[in-house]
Amino acid sequence: MKQIQDFLERKKLKQKISMITCYDSWSAKIISETQIDCVLVGDSLGMVMHGHTSTLPVSTAVMALHTAAVARGLKNKFLVADLPFLSYRKDLRSSVSAAEKVMKAGAQAVKLEGARGNLELIAHLVDSGVPVMGHLGLTPQSIHQLGGFKVQAKLEEEQSKLLKDCLALEKAGCFAVVLECVPQTIARKISESLSIPTIGIGAGVGCDGQVLVLHDLLGLQNDFHPKFLRKYMQGFEMVQEALNHFHRDVVAEKFPTDKESY
Ligand code: KIV
Repeated sequence: MKQIQDFLERKKLKQKISMITCYDSWSAKIISETQIDCVLVGDSLGMVMHGHTSTLPVSTAVMALHTAAVARGLKNKFLVADLPFLSYRKDLRSSVSAAEKVMKAGAQAVKLEGARGNLELIAHLVDSGVPVMGHLGLTPQSIHQLGGFKVQAKLEEEQSKLLKDCLALEKAGCFAVVLECVPQTIARKISESLSIPTIGIGAGVGCDGQVLVLHDLLGLQNDFHPKFLRKYMQGFEMVQEALNHFHRDVVAEKFPTDKESY
């Protein structure tokens, strides 16, 4: 997928969308050679790449740095970048400036969390030529408000608020919305109610697409096992074994051989 129109086309054709996070250039080069539809420079990079316990410490400068690295490696995939915590909640000028930084770093769209208080900004960004992806349900930037990384919208009244917020994001001009950690029944209902695609993570198969964190999908994090995650390889153990193999070869003088020497 190369443009926002492809998202709406996929929705119309009922063809699912795959999205994956990416934070650096070499991963972007690998993803470029796959069938994955689109790429997200998520602020989850604060946790995955920088070792923070939440996404809150991530700055716009860090998002722009990683976005530029991904953009240099990525070919022919739509690239979305997160606006980080509070960067779009102060005033219009600084919000637009945050969007400008990640767009000029190479993103084709920005993603921001929440609906209430963001609708005017979303309309303004869209009118200014910046495509916006919404993000509702578990919004990690509100972790302290939510009281932890937990499934959201379990109650009926929370579900009708979620549906209303999704419709408000669509009306404000979002081209897609991420639904994170919500019951699959409400995610399906929302997906059926919207004309823009929903991209789910921990939101069931009824969403129009699915997103996972690259390092989770590759099994590179051996201390993270949420119910929604499917590890497509045991990356942690595989990398560990390769490194141990190298170490053993060094100790046993099996590396380098004559062929690997000048
Ligand atoms: O920051 C992120 O990686 C995300 C995805 C999990 C949707 O927002």
